[in-house]
Formats: sequence, C-alpha cells, structure tokens
Amino acid sequence: MSKFLIAGNWKMNTNIGNAKKLINDIIKETSEIDDVDILLCPPYTHLFYSSQITEASNISIGAQNSYFEPSGAYTGEVSNEMLNSVGCSYVILGHSERRAIFGENNELVNKKVISALDSGLNVILCIGESESERESGNTNNVLFGQLEESLANVNDNSNLTIAYEPVWAIGTGKTATPEIIVETHEFINTYLSNRFGNNNIKILYGGSMKPENAESILKINNVSGGLIGGASLNSESFSTICKIASSLS
Ligand code: PGA
Repeated sequence: MSKFLIAGNWKMNTNIGNAKKLINDIIKETSEIDDVDILLCPPYTHLFYSSQITEASNISIGAQNSYFEPSGAYTGEVSNEMLNSVGCSYVILGHSERRAIFGENNELVNKKVISALDSGLNVILCIGESESERESGNTNNVLFGQLEESLANVNDNSNLTIAYEPVWAIGTGKTATPEIIVETHEFINTYLSNRFGNNNIKILYGGSMKPENAESILKINNVSGGLIGGASLNSESFSTICKIASSLS
C-alpha cells in the first residue's frame, strides 16, 4: 500500500505569528514519522516561511488555490509558477468553499488542474455533494460530473490526488458514516480506474475528520488519507491524526 497522505487545510486562519508556532509545533510532534506523507496548506502569506522552515523535515507545503495563467494582469491572483518559486509542492483545487463562495465551476477548476499539473505541482482535486444532492439521491451523478468535467483532457495522473469532501460534513462536526465513505470511495476509485486504467491515485476523505474518528476512517478500503480543516489548526490534534495514520501503515 502507498503511504497515507495527511493534509492540513488551514483555510483563512492564523496570522504569521501564531502560524509560526503552529508549524514549529507540528514539525516537533511529527518528527519521528517517516511512513506518512504529511502536508500543510497555510494561507499564501505564510507559504514562503512554511516551506523554508519545513525544508529539513518530512512535511510538504501546499497552497489552497491558484490561477491557471502563469503571470499577467490578474489582480489578486497567484500562479502555479509563484507557488513553485516559494517551495510549494501541492495545490488544493476545487474546494467546495471556492465553488460555493467564489463561484468556481468545473470548467474553471479544469483549467486550474491542467495548469497546476503542467507546472509540476501535485494537485488535490476536491469533489463532494451537498446535503440536498445526497438527499435527492444524486450523489453519484454529482461526483461523476465533477470528476468528468474537472479532469477533462487530463492524461497524466501521476501527480493527482482526489479529496472526497461531502459539503454537509465540512466544518459541521458531522462526519460521513463508514457506509457512505465505503460506497463513495469505491465509486470514485472505479471511475478513476475506468478513466485512467490501473491507477494509484490517492483518494482522501475530508469533512470533520479528527483524532476521535481518524482510525475508523483511515481503515476503510480506498481511503488513502485525510484532508483536515478545523483539526489541523491544533498541533496536537493534527499530529495525533498523523500518528494514527503511521500506526496503520
Ligand atoms: P473540516 O474541513 O475538517 O473543518 O471539516 C475540511 C476541509 O474543508 O478540507
């Protein structure tokens, strides 16, 4: 089995002062772990510091978004080239908050995925259904559409990771049941195998993952790690999840 990937998505939280403490605490608390891929995705303003301070550690640094153009008159945007230049190796794309709050659709996410992969970054593509989509029995259709459209014209999947994040489980304290995770990860894995042939694409679970539920989630077939929001803002919680992943490796 390939290594678990445990990724922290800090969202728009922390200032550089408390971010430094958080990252240094995580470095210390995870220093013994070498059998898990650990990733932190702080806000843009902390990326340069974060990648420098983690250089000698087993932690990778990623951004939470990027734009598909390499440079130019795109006020407020950040390109993949810029992320590479500050030592990022990952970027999260298509997060449900980007889709819901900032109006990103699959077509835009697809351009971003292609551009980020072309620039050599690892991409974590987020997909997931809303509560009403699940209740109306549309989950698989929604996931299929997100995968099909966001991955259009993507041929090389070697730097691609998928995060399944049911929108109703993000930041709500509601975690998807094991049955839902089994069924959905199986569906996504089958899609990826049909689309790419034999695939080693990791499928992360995200949505109120925390130390208390990490073990049961990580034990599920086709779950290759977690994308963790709230619990990644506490060094002990995040490091504990990394340790749980290590104990299952
Ligand atoms: P959460 O967020 O762990 O706070 O639910 C997960 C995410 O949005 O990536």
